[in-house]
This record gives sequence, C-alpha cells and structure tokens, in this order.
Amino acid sequence: MLIKFYSFLLLLIPSISAINISCHFRTYIWNFIGSVYECHVSDLTITSLNTVITSANGTHYNSSMNHEKVTSFHSDSKDIHYMPHGLNKIFPNLVSILIANTHIKEIHQKDLEQYPKLKLISLYGNEIEYLEKDLFKFNTQLKYIFFHFNKINQIYPTIFDHLNQLECLFLSANHCVNKDKTDKSGVIELIKEVKENCLPSNYSLMNQLEDLKGKMNMSNFESFLRQFIKKSSNLESKMENMTNKQNEKLKKSESNLNQKVESTAKKITNEIHTLMKQQEQKSMAKFDEQFAAVSQNLKRLKNQFESEILKKQNEKTQTKPDEQKNELDQKLKKFKSEMFHQFFFIALPSICLFTSLNIVMIYLCYQKYAKIGKVQKSRPSNDVELEERNN
Ligand SMILES: *[C@@H]1O[C@H](CO)[C@@H](O)[C@H](O)[C@H]1NC(C)=O
Ligand SMILES: *[C@@H]1O[C@H](CO)[C@@H](O)[C@H](O)[C@H]1NC(C)=O
Ligand SMILES: *[C@@H]1O[C@H](CO)[C@@H](O)[C@H](O)[C@H]1NC(C)=O
Ligand SMILES: *[C@@H]1O[C@H](CO)[C@@H](O)[C@H](O)[C@H]1NC(C)=O
Ligand SMILES: *[C@@H]1O[C@H](CO)[C@@H](O)[C@H](O)[C@H]1NC(C)=O
Ligand SMILES: *[C@@H]1O[C@H](CO)[C@@H](O)[C@H](O)[C@H]1NC(C)=O
Repeated sequence: MLIKFYSFLLLLIPSISAINISCHFRTYIWNFIGSVYECHVSDLTITSLNTVITSANGTHYNSSMNHEKVTSFHSDSKDIHYMPHGLNKIFPNLVSILIANTHIKEIHQKDLEQYPKLKLISLYGNEIEYLEKDLFKFNTQLKYIFFHFNKINQIYPTIFDHLNQLECLFLSANHCVNKDKTDKSGVIELIKEVKENCLPSNYSLMNQLEDLKGKMNMSNFESFLRQFIKKSSNLESKMENMTNKQNEKLKKSESNLNQKVESTAKKITNEIHTLMKQQEQKSMAKFDEQFAAVSQNLKRLKNQFESEILKKQNEKTQTKPDEQKNELDQKLKKFKSEMFHQFFFIALPSICLFTSLNIVMIYLCYQKYAKIGKVQKSRPSNDVELEERNN
C-alpha cells in the first residue's frame, strides 16, 4: 500500500534524469569565435525532456586548466533529442554551445536562459521546426547563430530584435527561409525576410499590438493614435458618402434601386474584407472580457437603432417621406456619433482594444446599412403615391 502511494507520488514529480558526462578537453580554434577551451563529448544520449547534466569528468589539457576555463561545449553525438540542462553549473563561463547533426526537435527559452554570456549557438543539422517567442531573451550577447539545415517553418518575428551584436545568422536549408548572412546589414535584411516568410500561423493582431506596445514610447504611441484616428474618420466619411449615394438612388426605380443596394452592399463587404485582411482578423478569437462588455454596449445600441427603424416601418404615419427620411438620417447620424464616441472613449486606454473595436464597428455599420437598404427598398410605393397625389 505504502509503496503504491510512493510510486504515485513519483509520478507527480516531473521526471528529471541526471547524467554524468565524460569530456575530452581541448583547446580549439573555431571559425568566427576563435580560440576556445572546449569540452568535447562524443557519447552523449539525451532522450527525455528534462535531462540535467550533473557532473563532467575528463583530463584537463594541463595543470592550469579547470572547469572554469571551459568556454565551449561541443557534442557531435548522434543521439541527442533535447537540449541538455545544467551545463552552466559545471562550466560557468560558456560562450559557445555546439550540438550539431543530431535529432533535436525543439528548443525553448528555458534551455538557453542560463547562459547570459553566450556568443555563439550552433544547432545546425537538427530537426527544429519552431523558434518560439523570447527564445534568446536572456542571451543578449549573441553574435553568431547557426540554425541551418533544420526544419524551421515558423519563427516568432521579434526574437532577434534585441540582439544588437548579432552579425552572423545562418538559416539556410530550412522550410520558410534559406539564407546565411555574415555581416550586420545582411543580418538585418535576413531578419526582415524572416518576418515576412516565417510568421507563426497563430501570430495574431493581439501579438502584434503587444509587441508594438512593448517597443513604443509615448511619442510613438501618439503618432500611432493620430494615424489610427485619421484612418477611422476616413472610414466614416466613406460611409457617409455611401449613404448619400444611396439616398440619391431612392429617387430612381425600384429595380434600379435593388441593384444599386446590392452593389453597395458588395462594395462595403469588399472593403470590410480588405480591412480585415489588413488587420488580421484572426485575433477576433482572442477578445477578453473587457471587450465583451464593449461589444454588449454596441449591440444594445444596434438593437435600439433597429427597433427604431421597425417602429417607423410599422407606424402608419402621415409624415411626408422626405421628413421621414430626414428623421432617419438624423437618427443614423446620432447613432454613428454615439458609436464613435463610445469607440474612442473606451479604446483610448488600450491600443489592442482600439483596433479590435474598429473591426466590430465596421461590421455593425455594415449590418445597419444593409438594413437601411431593405427599409428604404420597401418605401417606394409611398413615393409613387406621393407623386400621384402631387400630380
Ligand atoms: C554521477 O557522478 C556522481 C559523482 O560525481 C555520482 O555520485 C553519481 O552516481 C553519478 N551518476 C551517474 C548516473 O553515473
Ligand atoms: C567519467 O564519467 C563517465 C560517465 O559517467 C564514466 O563512464 C567514466 O567511467 C568516468 N571516468 C572517470 C575517469 O571517472
Ligand atoms: C596550459 O595551456 C594553456 C593553453 O595552451 C597555456 O596558455 C598555459 O600556459 C598552459 N599552462 C601550463 C602550466 O602549461
Ligand atoms: C503558437 O504555435 C506554437 C507552435 O506552433 C506554440 O508553441 C505556441 O504556444 C502557440 N502560441 C499561442 C499563443 O497559441
Ligand atoms: C521615442 O521615439 C521617437 C521616434 O522613434 C524618438 O525620436 C525618440 O527619441 C524616442 N524617445 C525616447 C525617450 O526614447
Ligand atoms: C466623400 O465625398 C466627398 C465629395 O463627394 C469627397 O471629397 C471625399 O473624398 C469622399 N470621401 C471618401 C472617404 O471617399
């Protein structure tokens, strides 16, 4: 019974396997990084995720050398499936890690964060597919990154941004990128290319805004805001133009109107699609509670508006169609300004909210305008009556 209990407890502890390694210590001169004192390991097997290297034996090069002088760890074993941990405790001055031509499929920030002095990392010839957000967050000294001959198809776009010393980036023979660069300006170009071609499929508008917010200082933020407001008011004036056009159409025949309403709706839809494409609609799935509340408010406004139209429709009013139309336009204007007011008021505290709201607003406006099209479509009989009366 007790044994069962203990073995159950063991299951709860994340399995950590501790291993010892046997180093062949040597002085060595590598391309790029130059002379190093290296622990070279040829028989190392790592098949589980949390493998910690607890000690390293081997004969040092001469009597003045010791573990603290080791600056490079190098393995060419063919049986490594995960990054080893614990090397920093044994060799506190590592500047270079090479684990090439083996079977590493994944690499994470926690595999590297213990090495703040790291200048070179070489994992070429592995099976890595994804370079995650903040992978090199704690390796600010990195100068040389070799990840060629892997299977990389996604790279979080900001992972290189803080690496001011980076002057050598090898990414050839991967799925989304196939280039090596050995000078600073080339590296900058390559990073640009990576940002275009290796975007993770789940890199959303939210991520973008988060990244942006992290980088922005106040003056950047203001210019962003100004741009955004300009964009939004452009949109409003476009909407206004469309209403005007639609009002003109009211004067024409019903079939004509029908067509025009349809084409206008199509036009609006297209515009929304373009805008959504621009703004990466994927993020819609990530709205938080705060947004849900705003969304509720907008919904309420929309319902109000719709019920008002409905009331108008049902009322057998004696008001002239023109007056009716003006009244409707007034309501529309009020609703729009209310919506914009709400939009800006709530959006200001958070840029994220800001852009997301824009999408919803367009969507609601679209819904609304489509509705108006229908409402107005049902009215031409009044116009005919009026014209007959006038005649
Ligand atoms: C690793 O070496 C330590 C002593 O340095 C020893 O106590 C331990 O049993 C060894 N572990 C393995 C798995 O060989
Ligand atoms: C060094 O460690 C390895 C792996 O634990 C072991 O097989 C070997 O016998 C050790 N050598 C010495 C000299 O202690
Ligand atoms: C040990 O080797 C290093 C590197 O070659 C050298 O600089 C150092 O002088 C040597 N020390 C002794 C005591 O031979
Ligand atoms: C995005 O995808 C990668 C792997 O494809 C995954 O590791 C990461 O956790 C994902 N991020 C989010 C926010 O879902
Ligand atoms: C903020 O960003 C602007 C434009 O990038 C720059 O000119 C300015 O120096 C920055 N201010 C601070 C305090 O970093
Ligand atoms: C709206 O129409 C006016 C004139 O009819 C034009 O000056 C303005 O540029 C149009 N706005 C948009 C966003 O198309």
